[in-house]
Amino acid sequence: MPRAFLIDTDTASDDAVALIMALRAADVRVVAITTVAGNVGVEQSTRNALYTVELCGAKVPVFPGAEKPLMRIHESATWFHGHDGFGEHNYPTAGQNPEKLHAADAIIQTIEANPGLVLVTLGPLTNIALAVAKKPTIAAKVSRCVVMGGAPCCEGNVTPAAEFNIWVDPEAARTVFLSGLPVELVGWHLCRGNAVLNDSDINHILGLKTKLGRFAVECNSIARQAYKVQTGEDGICLPDPVAMCLALDPTVGTDWSTHYVDIETRSELTRGMTVVDRLNVADDERNRAVWSEVVSKKPNSKVCWAIDNTRWKQALYSALR
Ligand code: BDR
Ligand code: CA
Repeated sequence: MPRAFLIDTDTASDDAVALIMALRAADVRVVAITTVAGNVGVEQSTRNALYTVELCGAKVPVFPGAEKPLMRIHESATWFHGHDGFGEHNYPTAGQNPEKLHAADAIIQTIEANPGLVLVTLGPLTNIALAVAKKPTIAAKVSRCVVMGGAPCCEGNVTPAAEFNIWVDPEAARTVFLSGLPVELVGWHLCRGNAVLNDSDINHILGLKTKLGRFAVECNSIARQAYKVQTGEDGICLPDPVAMCLALDPTVGTDWSTHYVDIETRSELTRGMTVVDRLNVADDERNRAVWSEVVSKKPNSKVCWAIDNTRWKQALYSALR
């Protein structure tokens, strides 16, 4: 029996590569894709998801969702991914149409129809927050909720304190972390350094001579330049595919631990910061006043601290063959 995956995405260049990995995995059935405003507006995100599904020759319904965060204006990352999120290569419109049902309702229905499914989130958590607020019981029906987001105990990529997906909609992220969903947090730190595709990795992918390999490199062209400006690191950085790799095989993560996590929603300076109780002190008497809400809900999240970069890149190459 293939595992059922539900993927929520603000589809831009790295999201597309993650979708390809799931759509090409032999032991996975992607039962639905839901889209959200994040890197680009939700309409463009939907268009990009449909294009990626078609490129893979797959048939998966795509449900458009939230056009903006729960309580804030939508701020995109077109400065990173290009105006279309795909590096501005004029990709055509897919033949398949988006579904009519709102993503939040699709998430509820899909989880109820597939109890035990794996939920993978690649964008701001607005749709998931709307779904768990409307039907809190779905949280217990998800076997794993793999979240690409956050910068646990290290620097952010959109502000010094926060990673993009969490920063865009911190209220939604907080709702999700406190919902009882079995969160596995894949932070931005995991896709940096040796996880970045260097020239030799990129040549290897292009050498596969497949349309998926060419697309994966091409649609990340603007993202590569932006990442160089942002970090000084040269290459293609792929946060969502790293998260998908861990969703497909958590043993690629070499260091996991379980903690309380809270999300900063009130500060201007640290908006969207993923505060991880790494030393397990949240439950101490002296921290109780601030941490009591989180501790009382017992929503322990698994946090991944390190991955096996050789195995991550092998998994990517296999998907692009
Ligand atoms: C995350 O933000 C987006 O730009 C990427 O698609 C990824 O989901 C990385 O911070
Ligand atoms: Ca994304």
